[in-house]
Amino acid sequence: MSEHAPVIIAFCGKGGAGKTSICALAIKYLINYNKKILAIDADPAGGLSWALGVIPSKTLDDLRQDLVAALKNKDIAGNEELYAMAQYELLAGLVENKGFDFLSVGRPEAEGCFCSINAFLRNCIGKLISHYDFVCIDGEAGLEQVNRRVLETVTHLVIVSDTSKRSIAIAHNLLNMAQQRTQTMHCAVIINKVGDSSCEVSNLPVIGTLPVSETIARFDSTGTSLLKIADTDAYYTKLTGIIGDLLKQLVPDNV
Ligand SMILES: Nc1ncnc2c1ncn2[C@@H]1O[C@H](COP(=O)(O)OP(=O)(O)OP(=O)(O)O)[C@@H](O)[C@H]1O
Ligand SMILES: [Mg+2]
Repeated sequence: MSEHAPVIIAFCGKGGAGKTSICALAIKYLINYNKKILAIDADPAGGLSWALGVIPSKTLDDLRQDLVAALKNKDIAGNEELYAMAQYELLAGLVENKGFDFLSVGRPEAEGCFCSINAFLRNCIGKLISHYDFVCIDGEAGLEQVNRRVLETVTHLVIVSDTSKRSIAIAHNLLNMAQQRTQTMHCAVIINKVGDSSCEVSNLPVIGTLPVSETIARFDSTGTSLLKIADTDAYYTKLTGIIGDLLKQLVPDNV
């Protein structure tokens, strides 16, 4: 078990900008370092499981429903039993793969309902992630769906944008939102699918640009796991340089 606080990287940005692809390839990169990795698919559409070639098991939402049902049916006597069940089921819901574990969030936490259950789950997730070196979260477009307990602990927010004006505007909004929530989270922007057209990125902490990649498009269209991309692929090599710099700069011991 890991003894230090994990590096928690969340990928967000406009729909279709490349969050899932970049998250999956960042995981491929980290696997090479033999670290304990947890991949969290926080998009209810479940794109990361495809990109990593994982068959999802129970989602966090399934687990929430199970706990609610168990409480209703009085299968659970008290808080201690509820906690034990939550811990057990959360571990059971993890899909173990070669080099990483995988957890799917499913539907996001509904505001206001199942308060105590959500609090339990947040606590369990907090405990769970402390056992990893790296947690990589593939988000939806915004930050809202990322479990709040997890978001509080995100160390690196990577905002992915394409070159469109709308995508860049969303990147600005996400950056502002993140900076309002916390001063300690490191925020960075990757511009993806850069072709011939230029874009205005002033005032954004851009750490790198990535080209349009025929390989990425082909893997996606054939439903092939991005973990199978060649180590020598030009897009992947460029991405590893960007992610490597991001992590080395801040956590030299981790990579
Ligand atoms: N650099 C690239 N070159 C070509 N195609 C790309 C590139 N990056 C991503 N794509 C393609 O763009 C589409 C969207 O990519 P991806 O699913 O990674 O984005 P996303 O931000 O996770 O989208 P969503 O918001 O729908 O979850 C996919 O078909 C993917 O294969
Ligand atoms: Mg996605």
